[in-house]
Amino acid sequence: MSVKKAIIPAAGYGTRSLPITKAVPKEMFPVAGKPAIQYVVEEAIASGIEEILIVLSRNKSLIMDYFDRSLEYEAFLEKVNKQHLIGKIDTPDIHLQYIRQPFAEGLGAAVKLGRRFAGNEPFAVLLPDDIFIGDEAPALAQLSDLHNETGFSVVGLKKVKNELLKNYGVIKEEKVSEGKYRLIDIVEKPKESPPSNLAVSGRYIFTPSLFDHLEKTTKGAGGELQLTDAVKSLLKEEKCYGMEISRNRYDIGSEADYLRLIQSIMESGR
Ligand code: G1P
Repeated sequence: MSVKKAIIPAAGYGTRSLPITKAVPKEMFPVAGKPAIQYVVEEAIASGIEEILIVLSRNKSLIMDYFDRSLEYEAFLEKVNKQHLIGKIDTPDIHLQYIRQPFAEGLGAAVKLGRRFAGNEPFAVLLPDDIFIGDEAPALAQLSDLHNETGFSVVGLKKVKNELLKNYGVIKEEKVSEGKYRLIDIVEKPKESPPSNLAVSGRYIFTPSLFDHLEKTTKGAGGELQLTDAVKSLLKEEKCYGMEISRNRYDIGSEADYLRLIQSIMESGR
């Protein structure tokens, strides 16, 4: 069954990017005139997603405002004869819903809020910190292909330098073919001896049974309910795959990546 629904968890505090995140959610950081989250919504649309649930926290209303119509701008642009700019403020051509996460209890807790939205269908999760740019197929579409082929959950992967693996979910794998793996195990932020150099990278497709595993998951790394721990539990009962994403990845919470992202978009004229 092809994936039509996606959850975008955007409820984190953005502590790495303080003090700006006191006022501006990192998902709203400008990247060549558009907020970062718009690239993620566009990727979802380009990958065949038809409905998105964005999980927000109290200080993230700016995201809802941004994706809403701006009657004031529309009227103003009409009035000053700048109709040609109205296309710039179009709302995305997709059904968007929002839910607020009352407590910041981790990525797993944010995704768990999407249970009713996802219902009994496979669904995608896109972490808006991670932006994938390149000439290859959109990152989520790459995962969709493997999901459609296998019918099981798929996590997006990138090879990461050894010293940085402690910041990621890291898989133990069995290679299926070039860039495709079957998960044997997964560990969130391994303090030592990471099981491979394949790090989970902000894109996932899950079967709905993930929610039963999220319900059972208790607090893990950093005292938070970790999505990775639910995946660890899921793969004891169901096959789970990993797919290396061929587009370049930029982590918008990292200053260096943020600058590289802007540079790459400006250079390619995307
Ligand atoms: C989250 C996930 C982690 C994943 C990472 C990818 O961590 O918990 O498994 O590898 O995103 O960006 P965070 O970056 O929120 O600490």
